[in-house]
Amino acid sequence: MASSDPTASAAAPPLPDPATPGAVPARILVVGGGGRENALGWALARCPGVEAVWIAPGNGGTEGLPGCQVLAIAQSDGEALAAACRDRAIDLVVVGPESPLAAGLADRLRRDGLPVFGPGADGAQLEASKQWAKGLMVEAGIPTAGYWSASSREEAVELLERLNRPLVVKADGLAAGKGVTVAASVQETRAAIEEVFDGRFGAAGASLVLEEQLSGPEVSVFALTDGQAMVLLPPAQDHKRIGEGDTGPNTGGMGAYAPAPLLDATGLEAVRRSVLDPTLAALRGRGIDYRGVIYAGLMLTANGPQVIEFNCRFGDPECETLMPLLGPELAAVLLACAQGNLAAAPSLAIAPGCSACVIAAAAGYPGEVRRGDPIHSALKPTDTLQIFHAGSRLEEDGRCVTAGGRVLAVVAQADDFDAAFEAAYAGLAGVSFEGISFRRDIGHQVRRRPSSPPT
Ligand code: AMP
Ligand code: GLY
Repeated sequence: MASSDPTASAAAPPLPDPATPGAVPARILVVGGGGRENALGWALARCPGVEAVWIAPGNGGTEGLPGCQVLAIAQSDGEALAAACRDRAIDLVVVGPESPLAAGLADRLRRDGLPVFGPGADGAQLEASKQWAKGLMVEAGIPTAGYWSASSREEAVELLERLNRPLVVKADGLAAGKGVTVAASVQETRAAIEEVFDGRFGAAGASLVLEEQLSGPEVSVFALTDGQAMVLLPPAQDHKRIGEGDTGPNTGGMGAYAPAPLLDATGLEAVRRSVLDPTLAALRGRGIDYRGVIYAGLMLTANGPQVIEFNCRFGDPECETLMPLLGPELAAVLLACAQGNLAAAPSLAIAPGCSACVIAAAAGYPGEVRRGDPIHSALKPTDTLQIFHAGSRLEEDGRCVTAGGRVLAVVAQADDFDAAFEAAYAGLAGVSFEGISFRRDIGHQVRRRPSSPPT
């Protein structure tokens, strides 16, 4: 958790002065090694005025992206990243994942005067502590499930006995997306409480939140912000379960599509008013100058949209899905957020089409996975078809092999979702590795014609 890191407890450093309105960063560092960071790097590299993009540490697909190169530094190594920014005269740093943000990487880099897109450790608590985030939501009147905090097994069990109904159990800290159980019974709630306090999530499970269960479709909303103003991206829908028909265990996300018709323009504006504006105001009220993306995971309940979780980063695979829809102003917009002058940035064009993303995972995912299998790809990227590697690695002999659970994402854009998913699945048919698995029903909510994807 943020507070256990020495850099995190230091006061946030002064932020750099606003620079020229609309300036484009020529040299960009993206921190992270997943599909999200490759998609960010790819989208930034194609903005006019951007000359070079480094991705640290990147993965086996990074060097294959036009304009992107690997910087072999771990995302946790703030000192080495700061030195690399100096050596390479970096104009903008974009931090992808939550753990370096929660550990204070943005604070460390800002101390050197670098513009960073990503909140400091203070703002990253939105994701890094569920108790902190719930407290902020309640204070700001943001619609969210009722909750109780507990910092010991006894306290949690006593709460459960009093409430005597199935609850959602959430480890307080960062648990790589695995810290949440939606229990079907009181017994299962109790087992989930025991699991948290038995140490399954390490320090992330020192305390927990018990939540009322909500129901309804889920949608992800992303606000790019400089701490004052914000730009909303089209809503996206993720597919968290491993199995077709939304069955089986939760994963990091097996595919996504955008824009999700679940929230039309009016619905999105309502979310801005009921959720995002009050969140930013509450952050400011706590003295937090939040520069980066606020990801609101929403459930659209019978009583309107409610916040299920906040994250301090882009969703993955939502990011891969959204980046191809964003205009060439993206680099200037992220720099303006980092510099605190979003109001002066060019407006971000958003393509009118539909974007479809399907994740190919390694055998065993979301459990223990096979690694080291060569990845073969005949997919030729076009303006409307992309491949973003995630869990892959380049061997010394130049072979690209699997190295993680979610191996890669194939993304396609078209005028409608049927055509977009057909193109994504056709692209995926050209990709293979031993044990490849993917859901064939991604986008079932918006497809009228189920395509006949490869078997
Ligand atoms: P999270 O890791 O917070 O995104 O939670 C993982 C998943 O658990 C969410 O995508 C929801 O499907 C589910 N979930 C979380 N909170 C609740 C809730 N209060 N009621 C019902 N489902 C929930
Ligand atoms: N796609 C869900 C997440 O990034 O948390």
